[in-house]
Amino acid sequence: MTIATSIDDTAVTRASGGDERAVIRVRDLSVTYEVEHPVRAVRDVSFDLIQGEILGLAGESGCGKTTLAYAINRLHKPPAVISSGSITFHDRSGTDIDLLGLDERSLEQFRWDKLSMVFQGAMNALNPVISIRAQLEDVLIAHRPRMRRAERRRLAGDVLDRVGVGRDRLASFPHELSGGMRQRVMIAMALLLEPQVMIMDEPTTALDVVVQREILREIVRLRDELDFAVIFITHDLPLLLEISDRIAVMLDGEIVELDTARRIHDEPRHPYTRKLLGSFPSLTGDRGSFIRTGAAIDDGASAASTDEGQDAR
Ligand SMILES: Nc1ncnc2c1ncn2[C@@H]1O[C@H](COP(=O)(O)OP(=O)(O)O)[C@@H](O)[C@H]1O
Ligand SMILES: [Mg+2]
Repeated sequence: MTIATSIDDTAVTRASGGDERAVIRVRDLSVTYEVEHPVRAVRDVSFDLIQGEILGLAGESGCGKTTLAYAINRLHKPPAVISSGSITFHDRSGTDIDLLGLDERSLEQFRWDKLSMVFQGAMNALNPVISIRAQLEDVLIAHRPRMRRAERRRLAGDVLDRVGVGRDRLASFPHELSGGMRQRVMIAMALLLEPQVMIMDEPTTALDVVVQREILREIVRLRDELDFAVIFITHDLPLLLEISDRIAVMLDGEIVELDTARRIHDEPRHPYTRKLLGSFPSLTGDRGSFIRTGAAIDDGASAASTDEGQDAR
């Protein structure tokens, strides 16, 4: 990891520019569905996504998680409208990009390249009759038009190796692969251009529990290797406690609490967070089996070794 392994509260909550390690800075963002009775699905949401962290976004169905994810990537469609706020992306080269100011062409370049997304049903978005290789290479052709064919093939193979599918499946067609394998291919595609941020909206919800855990381990390992930041969305708070560095809790379109995973678990402040925790009675003492391999953001008191120590008990 290239970032600090501890975070102090003042750095996170500093009211002026926010955390200086932020890769995405969302401020006072509101998204409204302009229907007959307008629904403000996201209400004045502000947070920083820190380079290299896994930020979990929790909250029950309908609270606005997907609306927020789409808005950050500007993938929202009418009747959804961003009614106020700002989203700033801090590029590796040091440039701040105003995401709400990008035109459609710039957005197309931006997506996949700097920020990619994997959705619950993403695996079904693959064309069943086009080879995995061709679909991966298409992303490279669109975003790296000058790249040579041999280089494209090598990268497509490398990225499949990375996600545990293996380059020997390059010639396969999606319909020949299981759901879990296809979702891994989508993660490979999301990683292909080495984005700084990956947004994952319930990416494993449709998969069985064993496959789901394998893929989660893979995501944590890939983050450790490649140092991208992740916004990981799910209604499953216990799952987030295992994989996240920090967790934001969303209720009725607002983020009501945002803190390190450990503090969300040990000292939840908002009644709704307590309710979410309380509704999972299996979580009594420790945080269960911890699959984080390297905590990017934590509060110093909870180094990864401590967590492993708890597992052994
Ligand atoms: N197309 C739509 N038209 C009107 N309201 C919508 C539409 N899509 C979502 N909403 C509203 O936005 C709220 C948030 O939805 P969503 O972001 O999908 O929640 P989540 O992902 O947390 O389940 C919902 O409660 C719903 O009422
Ligand atoms: Mg959703």
